Amino acid sequence: MLNLPQLLAEKKLIMVGGKGGVGKTTTAAALAVAAAKMHRRVLLISTDPAHSLADAFDQPIGGKITKMAPNLDALELDPNEEVEAYLDRVLRQMRRYAGPDQVNELRRQLRLSSQSPGAQEAAVLERMANLIEESDADYDLVIFDTAPTGHTLRLLALPEIMAAWTDGLLKHNQRSEKLGKTLAHLTPNRSLDTPFEDPTKNATEGLDKRSQELTETLLVRQSLFQRTRRRLNDSKNTAFIFVLTPEKLPILETTRAINSLKEAKIPVAGAVINRIMPNPGQDPFWVARFERQQAQLKEIAEKLAGVETLAMPLMASDIQGMDQLVSFAELFN
Ligand SMILES: Nc1ncnc2c1ncn2[C@@H]1O[C@H](COP(=O)(O)OP(=O)(O)OP(=O)(O)O)[C@@H](O)[C@H]1O
Ligand SMILES: [Mg+2]
Repeated sequence: MLNLPQLLAEKKLIMVGGKGGVGKTTTAAALAVAAAKMHRRVLLISTDPAHSLADAFDQPIGGKITKMAPNLDALELDPNEEVEAYLDRVLRQMRRYAGPDQVNELRRQLRLSSQSPGAQEAAVLERMANLIEESDADYDLVIFDTAPTGHTLRLLALPEIMAAWTDGLLKHNQRSEKLGKTLAHLTPNRSLDTPFEDPTKNATEGLDKRSQELTETLLVRQSLFQRTRRRLNDSKNTAFIFVLTPEKLPILETTRAINSLKEAKIPVAGAVINRIMPNPGQDPFWVARFERQQAQLKEIAEKLAGVETLAMPLMASDIQGMDQLVSFAELFN
């Protein structure tokens, strides 16, 4: 059985993942409440623009770290704002390499790339990576509501993807040829298999000063991602928890997600099976629903064999506000 209190007592980083609507935010919030009650200093972070964390606590949160309870702070990141901030940083940096006539074109390119697939993921991932490190001093445990997907996590292992993205920002820059060389210099032989190789080794050798500066900035990000990657692979301090409901699509998606994490050598601590129905009584409709759910639970036992699970009941109403989160969290024991 998945021992959540033990995870809450031991881990430094918990990622809660799962398909839409299965109860990730509720679970992450209840975990945070439970850990804070165990006297751990907890930072709970959501990357959902819908402010669902605020809904779960029934209290506004937003983009600044907000105190929710003793030992419990929360923060809501807005992916759109993260992209804006990320692109601002890139623009500020690139300005130093572009002539004044090129800045407008650069700005246009950045605007376009903010719509590109992956821009939000990259920006949010970088913020997450920074937050994980910055929180070391003030918190014992960081919980993320909505873990990055396997697809997003590959960004951590493939620095050249990030480099290519930055390269794309500079497509029409006259200096892009030189930059191309810089980037090529950055990423030789680096792949999923060797994500931890020291990226600073020889990377700026033989480059002129401007290219060196740019390379170094990219390298700072690259080593940040490598450190994050190391933390995620470290099952002693990090736990990925999936939430699913006993329904076809959540089962499929969770199975897939767990496998893709396995491929990335990121261990999964377990799965919370949410919204388990109570005894249905005599009503044929509820008896049928109940039997259907029992069949899906069997399916979960087969598909997630080897994964620790914990069943959580379907409650009579939504779980909202501190009192209800506390009651829900008591069922973790
Ligand atoms: N066990 C439960 N019993 C009753 N209601 C629940 C249960 N778990 C979650 N809910 C309710 O279901 C709704 C959706 O839950 P939640 O917001 O946690 O899902 P989510 O996975 O975070 O969704 P999203 O993918 O949209 O972020 C909420 O109103 C929540 O209070
Ligand atoms: Mg949510």
